[in-house]
Amino acid sequence: MNAPSSRYAYYRAALEGQHLPAAFVDLDVFDANLERLARRAGPLPIRLASKSVRSVALMKRALARPPFLNGLLCYSAGEAAWLATQGFDDLVVAYPTVERDDLEAVARQIGEGRRITLMVDGAGQLDPIDAAGAAAGVVMPVAIDLDLSSDFPGLHFGVYRSPVKDAESALALAHAIARHKYLTLDGLMGYEGQIAGLADAVPGQRLKNAIIRALKRRSITEVRQRRTRVVAALRDAGFSLRFVNGGGTGSFETTRDEPSVTELAAGSGLYLPTLFDHYEVFRAEPAAGFALPVVRLPGEGIATCSGGGYIASGPAGPSRLPQPWLPEGSSLFANEGTGEVQTPVRLPADVKIGIGEPLFFRHAKAGELCERFNELLLIQAGRVVERVTTYRGDGKCFF
Ligand SMILES: Cc1ncc(COP(=O)(O)O)c(C=O)c1O
Repeated sequence: MNAPSSRYAYYRAALEGQHLPAAFVDLDVFDANLERLARRAGPLPIRLASKSVRSVALMKRALARPPFLNGLLCYSAGEAAWLATQGFDDLVVAYPTVERDDLEAVARQIGEGRRITLMVDGAGQLDPIDAAGAAAGVVMPVAIDLDLSSDFPGLHFGVYRSPVKDAESALALAHAIARHKYLTLDGLMGYEGQIAGLADAVPGQRLKNAIIRALKRRSITEVRQRRTRVVAALRDAGFSLRFVNGGGTGSFETTRDEPSVTELAAGSGLYLPTLFDHYEVFRAEPAAGFALPVVRLPGEGIATCSGGGYIASGPAGPSRLPQPWLPEGSSLFANEGTGEVQTPVRLPADVKIGIGEPLFFRHAKAGELCERFNELLLIQAGRVVERVTTYRGDGKCFF
């Protein structure tokens, strides 16, 4: 290869001799991103969002760094029950479940002394959790998921999540929880995804960025008022909340200043996938990537790799495709994207890559990369120092 960027050469040397495709995490950058999140959290602790890491070893590494709590924000009840067997505790499941076997597994872990809190947002989810608690003879902690999307004229700014949108509906749910013998209200979570997970400094989109930032400003005020009001109403009614969880990687700067919030949630800021590249309020560096081997050279300036079609969830479109990362300036072909078994890449004019050499890519989302690989190669100081399993490598697939 000609004119290698130093970063390309660094990862190529670090992964020399490894079987490709391979996913990797640069621990030096991962640790720097931990520091960044820690700094940005201000006075609040951080609950790590497990879905954005999906590797037990790396979650443990993050939790060892204050102000990360010794606890996780999980995405499935089955996952939380399993993580409880892997040495984790204080597991808040951020999404509701009604699957009986998962609820039973959670109840068993609670019976063994682990703290697992399940998310609810409506009366319909309460009976199945209560039944699992009754069968195991344990009280199941639950938390209320408060919807923090903003309804602007002609625009739903945020995600469709919970029907609990105000103090009245939160109080009604809290009272319904209190009527169940095997349930106890443990906390509240309100995730302002439209602030925390929406890029607002994307190159080439000046007008759109300006509109998104204006919408964010308006929504932040509303989020603050709603969360504060709901927390105050619950406390005034005599409900004690062990935690009020809010925010995500992209919203620390505003969520941390809200007095009703007791802890922040984040995960994506550690791997830093492409969807988190362009935020006005923070910068971090990519720590995770994957290497594909070049197996064909179909034309001048084109290298074709094995694999690569690791499309991210969400609204399908170019933003969900993995992106060529290194060498810098490499790009995909719009008609092919990243393919099921092969991915052609247009190389920068001054770069030549031979058969068998790697190209490096980044995923659009954080933890989803781990659904494609059994292990992550951990790179530190220029070499692979450890191989750790992903959830997939542990034989775990929760959704
Ligand atoms: C409930 C909840 N909190 C927080 C987050 C933020 O996680 P991240 O920092 O990985 O974007 C998410 C992500 O979707 C979430 O669903």
